Formats: sequence, structure tokens, C-alpha cells
Amino acid sequence: MNFELTQDQQQMQALAREFAEKDLQPGILERDASGEFPLELFKKFGKTGVYGLPYPTEVGGLGGSYLAYALAVEEVSKVDAAFGIAFSVDTSLYGGSIMNSSAPDEIKKKFLEPITYGEKIGSFGLTEHTAGSDAAGQRTVATQQADGSWVINGSKCFNTNGPLADLTVIYALTDPELGTKGMAAFVVEKGTPGFTVGKVENKMGIRTAQVSDMHLDNVHVPAENMIAPPGKGFQLAMKTLDGGRIGVAAQGLGIAKGAFEIARKYMMERQQFGKPICKQQYLAFKMAELQTKIEAAELLLYKAAVCKEEGKPYSVPAAMAKLTCTNVAMEVTTEAVQMLGGNGFMKDYHVERMMRDAKITQIYEGTNEIQKLVISGPIFR
Ligand code: CAA
Repeated sequence: MNFELTQDQQQMQALAREFAEKDLQPGILERDASGEFPLELFKKFGKTGVYGLPYPTEVGGLGGSYLAYALAVEEVSKVDAAFGIAFSVDTSLYGGSIMNSSAPDEIKKKFLEPITYGEKIGSFGLTEHTAGSDAAGQRTVATQQADGSWVINGSKCFNTNGPLADLTVIYALTDPELGTKGMAAFVVEKGTPGFTVGKVENKMGIRTAQVSDMHLDNVHVPAENMIAPPGKGFQLAMKTLDGGRIGVAAQGLGIAKGAFEIARKYMMERQQFGKPICKQQYLAFKMAELQTKIEAAELLLYKAAVCKEEGKPYSVPAAMAKLTCTNVAMEVTTEAVQMLGGNGFMKDYHVERMMRDAKITQIYEGTNEIQKLVISGPIFR
């Protein structure tokens, strides 16, 4: 067992940290207020190839490790968690669907390469108004045509990156009677007639992440865009979500570490009762507990990422990492607001934004109750 990051992983961590501090930090309060996604910055960060980081070079990725990807999501999320989820969905849900699919390498390359350097943005269309935690409760239907192409009809919701995406993986039923065994997956390109952005959500947190409904009205998709054949779509979605949950865990850990650092600095400067408030043992002990929880969460996250890159089973490690990192994010941000007192409630100190951002990490990519379902299953098998 080795707890050291490799040189490549440290380099990626440093690169993402520098980008977060120099590029993402300025204007973050204004962006949180306006809800405007920093598209130019997303493209700028993409020029490093970071969005295809964990995928092999043969299929258009950068050939890096999944842990390096998680470290990059963590670093940007310390500063801007909305950016972190846009990056994570692009890489691990869109890119992961392509990578985990049974599509031939040339098709994988066709759909992965454009996201690697941020030329195109990817999105993941699984959730529907009737299919949230119950991902099998889909209504979107794909019907094969005589020439082998497909026509898709239905609607997706809570689609992160939806309004920005050039490429979206749509999960659809080819045989609604079969449920999970009748699902396939397709890449649908922006501008395909009938494929439109619906309601763009106004959210509590991750304000600049663009999240919308996506409507499919007789959308024609060529046969080669089918990345999971009928019967294989649900497994593809589940396997991909296992990888996505590592991304959300990294986002949660980043939020927790970001808020912790703000609280730490504040407590060393803020004087009350004639001394810095970190000299109050109650507060110092609270920070000791939070630091311990952050490190425990970090171990679970890094373990899950290493399991994935080493080809070991990672559903349960990913669920444990997601559950723990996101709960720690909620706890640390809530405590940080409290420790900063009245200032913590004010936007200028950032922790109230982080607290709002943390909440969704306990909900999306499988609620934390769903993570417990994933974790508890094998305990009794
Ligand atoms: N990997 C591969 N295959 C898997 C799998 C996995 N992790 N989990 C299940 N499967 C397979 C099973 O083996 C089974 O295959 P067979 O039929 O061949 O035996 C099949 O899938 C069905 O499995 P289940 O019976 O367990 O399926 P279920 O309907 O009971 O659902 C669930 C299981 C875990 C609850 C699943 O529905 C789930 O994960 N729900 C949460 C959905 C979710 O995470 N949504 C997030 C949307 S994306 C998002 O949030 C993005 C964003 O905004 C940022």
C-alpha cells in the first residue's frame, strides 16, 4: 500500500489548483449571482486535455489515471463546485458512457476526442420526470427504422450541461415491456432536428452549472450513434454512474476542503475575548473532528479511483466515497458558516455558497439513500 501520489497525479493536481485560483476565483460571487456559466474558462481549461484525462490515447483521451481526474475535479471544486460538476459530467458521465460502451474504437474516438480538449461539451440524459432514483422507470422510446437508423421520442430532465452540450448520450427504451432489459443508448448531436433544450433550472446551489430538460421529438439518429444495443443500455448507465459517483465524491471533497481552509484562516485572524477564536478549545476540537472526517473521506475517494483504474470492482467503493465525501461536504460547510458567525452568512465569505453547493452533492448521481442501497446489497448476498 502506497499513500503517495505519482508525479503525474501531483502535476495534474497542481495544474488544476493554479487554474482554480487564478481563473475561477475572480468573479465567482458575480457568477453565483447571475448564474452565468463561464464557458470561455471551460474551453480554456479544456485546452490542457483534462476532460479526456482518464481515457486511453487510442480512443482520443489523454491516457491519465482516474485518480488524476478525481484530483482535478477536487481542486476546481475547492473554488467553484459548479465548474466541478460541469467538468465531471463531461468527463465521467458523457465520456464514461462512450468509454464503457461496446462501440468500436473508431466510434469511441469520434465521440470522445472532441471533448478531450474542450472543443465540444458532453452531457448525459438518463433522468426523467418519472425516472429519478428509479432509473428503470423510463418513458423515452427509440424505434428502429427500416434502414437501421433510430427515431427517439421522449423527454429528459435535470440534464447537467444540457443547454451547453454538443453531444448528449440519451438512454432510451427499445422495448418498453422489458424495462431494464429493453434499454439502449445513443449519442445525439446538438442541432439534430427535434432535439431541443427545455426549461433551464433556477437552482439553490451550483448556480452556474447549466441544468435543463431536453426534449426529443422524432429525433433521427444514425445506426452508428447507438453505443449500447437494446438490452445493454441500463448496465451501461449503471457502470457509468459508478465512475460518475467518484467525480461527485471528488466534488464533495473539494467543497469540504475549500470551506475548511476558509474557516481555518478566519479562525486564526478573528479576535474575540482578547485572542484568536482558534484558541477556543471548543472550536479547535471541532476543526480537529472535521479534519479527521475530511481525511477519512479522502481515503475512500482515492481508494475508489484506484480500484477503478486497476480494473477491480468499484461500485461499492464509489458509493462509499460518494456517500462519505458528500456528507462531509455538507457537514463542513454548515459548520464553517457557523464558525464564521454573522460573516459566514454573508456572501463575501464564500462559505454560504459552498453550503448551498454541497446540498446537491448528496442528491445527484444517485441520492445518498441510493448509495446505501448499493452498499447494503452485497453485505447480505
Ligand atoms: N454496473 C453494471 N450493471 C449493473 C450495476 C452496475 N453498477 N447495477 C446494476 N446493474 C445491472 C444488474 O446486474 C441487473 O442486470 P441483469 O438484469 O442482467 O441481472 C440490471 O442492471 C438491473 O439491476 P437492478 O435490478 O439492481 O436495478 P434496479 O432497477 O433495482 O435499480 C438502482 C438499481 C441502483 C436503484 C439504480 O436504479 C440506480 O442507480 N438509481 C439511481 C439513479 C441515478 O444515479 N441517477 C443519477 C442520474 S445522473 C445525474 O444525477 C447527473 C447530474 O445531474 C450531475
